[in-house]
Amino acid sequence: MSRKLCRLVDVPPDSGLGLRIEGPGGSRHIVLFKTPAGIRAYQDVCPHQGRGLAFAPGEYLLDDRGNLICPHHGASFDLTSGACFSGPCEGDRLSAIETRIEKGWVYLEASD
Ligand code: FES
Repeated sequence: MSRKLCRLVDVPPDSGLGLRIEGPGGSRHIVLFKTPAGIRAYQDVCPHQGRGLAFAPGEYLLDDRGNLICPHHGASFDLTSGACFSGPCEGDRLSAIETRIEKGWVYLEASD
């Protein structure tokens, strides 16, 4: 079962689009990024201390190469793979969420 999340054009090229998803298990926060390899979606949770990845509501910090920087302790993530390549959780990775694009919309493929 898939769920319509947002329009493809709603995902900014220089930040992320944070969304709250409601499901039978409760709500959870996810974040979508536009990368050279396409849309990537992750749980909005840093693997270091389990904190959110935004530095302000709905604002995500990307470096000049398009890598995500966690605002809490500076972990850097490759957004194509979700891998942390620098910082306190180096070698760990963001929790990926499967999505698909259809007719300009982003769909969540995973179910709760
Ligand atoms: S919570 Fe993200 S680097 Fe510490």
